[in-house]
Amino acid sequence: MSGEPVQQPAVQMVNIEKYFGLVNALKDINLTVGKNEIVGLIGDNGAGKSTLVKILTGVFPPSSGQMFIAGNPVDFHTYSVQRAHDMGIETVYQDKSLGEKQALWRNFFVGREVTYPFGFINVNKEKEIANEIMINTIGFRGKGITVDSKVSKLSGGERQGVAIGRAMHFDAELIILDEPTVALSLKEVRKVLNFVHQIKEGGKACIYISHDMQDVYEISDRFIIIDRGEIVSSIEKKDISLSALDAFLLDYAHGLKDRE
Ligand SMILES: Nc1ncnc2c1ncn2[C@@H]1O[C@H](COP(=O)(O)OP(=O)(O)O)[C@@H](O)[C@H]1O
Ligand SMILES: [Mg+2]
Repeated sequence: MSGEPVQQPAVQMVNIEKYFGLVNALKDINLTVGKNEIVGLIGDNGAGKSTLVKILTGVFPPSSGQMFIAGNPVDFHTYSVQRAHDMGIETVYQDKSLGEKQALWRNFFVGREVTYPFGFINVNKEKEIANEIMINTIGFRGKGITVDSKVSKLSGGERQGVAIGRAMHFDAELIILDEPTVALSLKEVRKVLNFVHQIKEGGKACIYISHDMQDVYEISDRFIIIDRGEIVSSIEKKDISLSALDAFLLDYAHGLKDRE
């Protein structure tokens, strides 16, 4: 018996089902993401990845099932995007999630202003924190970008970095990245992957969704494969090589075809 406290997983989904009318988008999903774990969520178009993310992030409730965040049960009657934030679930949408014309520092605090006791926004404090996040949390260096720069000056990868830094600063339990590298150049993709490495170093959990298997493989500790609304496999990276994972996915797809 060790005296260590039990570490609750970052998030746990139990028997989650989702119907859109007659479409059964998620079937009996049981999924656990540990603290400090990066999970690659893999599946074809229409498999149910985004639906799963939307339930996690409070966009809509499941048809049935339970969810726990850091061990705390989620009440789906009151769960919302705001509530998900409060409970530590953050997501980074494609570049449009950052206000284009805003200065960078403002962007960190949308909806969560740092105020004086009278309610005025503490601009200096916000800038100071934003600068700290940029330099220390996400390692933004040089190239003339400061907290006063307009978001529109940032590259796609840098925007992802800012959003990830923001999520980390607000002490997210789980950061969800759904196709964060779509439409980015290779160099920018590299930046995003480096930011994701920072998530892990910061001791946070992450669900990473991408069609690029090489990226998913590099970044993840574990792969969860979802097909037509069902989790069909969960594989630790240490138990499979990239080529074996690719082969597994191909075989799986072929196996399904053969049975049709
Ligand atoms: N808002 C919605 N209304 C109706 N059907 C939906 C809706 N969102 C997703 N679906 C259906 O649910 C299934 C899963 O979709 P989705 O979660 O977007 O898959 P993925 O992100 O893996 O491509 C698909 O069959 C899709 O058509
Ligand atoms: Mg999707």
